[in-house]
Amino acid sequence: SRTAVVIPAAGRGVRLGPGAPKALRALNGTPMLIHAVRAMAESRAVSLVVVVAPPDGAPEVKTLLDDHALPERTDFLVVPGGDSRQESVRAGLDALPDGIDIVLVHDAARPLVPVDTVDGVIEAVRDGAGAVVPALPLADTVKQVEPREAGLPEPVVATPERARLRAVQTPQGFDRALLVRAHESVTENVTDDASMVEQLGEPVVVVPGHEEAFKVTRPLDLVLAEAVLARRRA
Ligand code: C5P
Repeated sequence: SRTAVVIPAAGRGVRLGPGAPKALRALNGTPMLIHAVRAMAESRAVSLVVVVAPPDGAPEVKTLLDDHALPERTDFLVVPGGDSRQESVRAGLDALPDGIDIVLVHDAARPLVPVDTVDGVIEAVRDGAGAVVPALPLADTVKQVEPREAGLPEPVVATPERARLRAVQTPQGFDRALLVRAHESVTENVTDDASMVEQLGEPVVVVPGHEEAFKVTRPLDLVLAEAVLARRRA
């Protein structure tokens, strides 16, 4: 079986503050996207990486990938993305060649995921799971609220039992045909790919995630990411 990774990297990264699209911002001098691509290419099981660039940024991203050393065993493709993460992933799926039967979807915004996590996801799909998500238990208690206008206190509706909750990460791994079917039939906006498979009524399983697979979303996350890189170098 051959495995490809789709990396949606077309987001603006508004929550990170003003500047370049998030995936192109530097961590220790190297764009986040390059870290993310290398993290995927480190897995010997990955034969193709499809990067989904901002709609008008595909040539720039192609140049960026050409300029950075990446393992020879891995092929790369760059395609333009869409207005939502979902559309961007779909553009990546549409670009997959024949012969790929396992697809991972990995956020460019998770540049530091260790290869063992990537391999764990691939292995679970190879062992027969149609959809696999890496996840970790939560440190915080989570409350469901009734949304109100900004500034007004929000009433709490429920407190799900923390021990049964998981924070999910990427790469999420799929049987290719199942993920394509999910993207063809689910139209609601979702925040991850596995939930589209859940909406089809198909099973999704969890494997251990990793602290270093955190998503770089806010300015503080950049500080943490650079600290992790510094520790790896030490
Ligand atoms: O916004 P969020 O943090 O959920 O973004 C997760 C990933 O999806 C990021 O890597 C981002 O670049 C990507 N994305 C995309 N196309 C969009 C929006 C987000 O590829 N229109």
